[in-house]
Amino acid sequence: MVEPPAHRPPFPVGWFVVAHVADLPVGALAPLAVFGQDLAVGYTAGGRALVTHSVCPHLGADLAAGGRIDDDQVVCPLHEWCFSHGGACTSAADGPIPETARLRVWPTEVVGGTVWAFNGRDGEQPLAPPPVPDGSGEFRTEERPGHPEDVLVGILASGGVADGAPVADDPDTWEGTTPDGRALRVHGPGTVVLRSADGASPVIHVTPVDGFTVMVRLVDGVPLADVESSRADLPGFRSWYRRFDRSAAPARSPARSGRSGRAGSSGRRQAQAGETPAD
Ligand code: FES
Repeated sequence: MVEPPAHRPPFPVGWFVVAHVADLPVGALAPLAVFGQDLAVGYTAGGRALVTHSVCPHLGADLAAGGRIDDDQVVCPLHEWCFSHGGACTSAADGPIPETARLRVWPTEVVGGTVWAFNGRDGEQPLAPPPVPDGSGEFRTEERPGHPEDVLVGILASGGVADGAPVADDPDTWEGTTPDGRALRVHGPGTVVLRSADGASPVIHVTPVDGFTVMVRLVDGVPLADVESSRADLPGFRSWYRRFDRSAAPARSPARSGRSGRAGSSGRRQAQAGETPAD
């Protein structure tokens, strides 16, 4: 039996699919359990999404329980303090705004009806946009036990992928080949795209919920792998996956965790740990 590696990234750094627009109420915040935290996700009539910590920095009200969101601000349901989409407090009722009143927010993008959030250090911005531009298609979701790395290894192994390598011009993408010659690519820490013979590109998204569970989203009817992850091993893949582990890395060397060569708005941002998102 192959022993799983002793160390895995606790919550890998990069883009993850966290919700679908069709599931979100417009103008309200809903609970979101990802990255080991209680978060809130909202969607506006103007087509913006927001992922934020669910605890109000004033007196700790749950923003996912009655919080409102529009294209300018987030409003806490308890005392109606307001926050920008960048997390800055813009109104503290009738009082002065405390310097420390700030919401943690996660960089978020909506792509084809899919909401992506970038998991990194507080304030860290991605170097590139989400890795898969087309988020449309029928999908179904299920929870699976384990770490994203192990679940991805299980998916690769079930597809018959025995080995592979990082893509030469995009080191945040890893490519293997199935026994029937199809390319199977892993984009960033949580997305698998299979290039089918008929030209379709079904996608699997793997998102960490907590330390023991991941949410798997299957787009366009991909049959989910059923391999016991701990019994599969792809040492080259596991070694590549370490690039999304920032737990012991210097703050100034983030992986891009996005599609190479795309020049979206996030791709033009500076990726500096500790940078405050634009409000
Ligand atoms: S607890 Fe949120 S405004 Fe008071």
